[in-house]
Amino acid sequence: MKKFVLLVAMVAFLGLAASAFGIPTAPEGDLKVVMAAGATKPAVTFSHAKHAVAVPDCKVCHHTFTGEGVPQKCSECHKAEKDGKKLDIKNAAHKTCRGCHRDMKKDGKKTGPTPCTGCHKK
Ligand code: HEC
Ligand code: HEC
Ligand code: HEC
Ligand code: HEC
Repeated sequence: MKKFVLLVAMVAFLGLAASAFGIPTAPEGDLKVVMAAGATKPAVTFSHAKHAVAVPDCKVCHHTFTGEGVPQKCSECHKAEKDGKKLDIKNAAHKTCRGCHRDMKKDGKKTGPTPCTGCHKK
């Protein structure tokens, strides 16, 4: 119990410290991933808050994030068409999002959806 209280206090302190030093905090609640222009599938909404807990390292998704300022949207770099080494938004999102869900599922862990309609909800 003592340990738990200490943990809660530490988390609260880190939260305060983070805001005091201007470290970006993850958005709370649900977030819509900005779509590729001309998208054909229903837009993807996911809980950013749950992911920031399940995946504490921001860089797993925001792979160009330096730790300063605010991470850029995927769609600022990943467009509707592939551009050199930059995957198109569909494949970039699928590799990161679906790839993690698929790997975790393989390991028998609780994770997010892999079927199309699990993410592209009407
Ligand atoms: C599981 C993947 C994932 C993780 C982990 C993650 N994010 Fe995100 N985050 C996203 C996606 C996807 C978006 C929406 C981007 C878009 O629309 O292209 C986003 C958006 C954001 C935005 C809003 C950007 C904007 O311009 O609206 C901020 C701020 C942010 N994330 C911060 C964080 C921080 C800080 C962490 C680490 C604590 C984190 N994120 C961890 C996937 C993730
Ligand atoms: C500032 C530009 C920029 C942003 C923002 C960005 N990417 Fe990328 N991404 C790149 C570039 C450039 C590459 C190719 C070179 C490399 O792998 O770094 C890439 C490569 C990738 C790859 C392929 C990596 C591999 O293993 O082959 C994936 C997957 C990916 N990005 C997903 C995402 C997701 C998801 C987001 C948003 C959460 C995102 N990217 C945001 C620029 C960006
Ligand atoms: C590194 C692993 C990882 C990555 C990357 C990841 N997820 Fe998840 N996802 C999870 C885990 C773990 C859960 C279960 C979280 C929970 O239930 O608390 C989850 C749950 C979900 C859910 C169901 C709960 C909710 O959020 O509504 C959706 C939808 C989802 N993920 C979409 C996405 C999308 C879209 C992306 C890419 C932008 C993404 N995930 C990237 C691990 C990941
Ligand atoms: C884990 C979540 C997830 C799953 C599962 C998933 N997608 Fe996606 N998909 C995304 C995200 C995030 C984007 C990028 C944002 C957007 O364009 O809506 C995307 C983009 C796309 C796009 C390009 C944009 C558009 O709407 O035309 C297509 C096509 C697409 N997905 C088809 C599929 C199909 C088909 C399946 C099943 C085989 C599937 N997706 C499964 C998350 C997912």
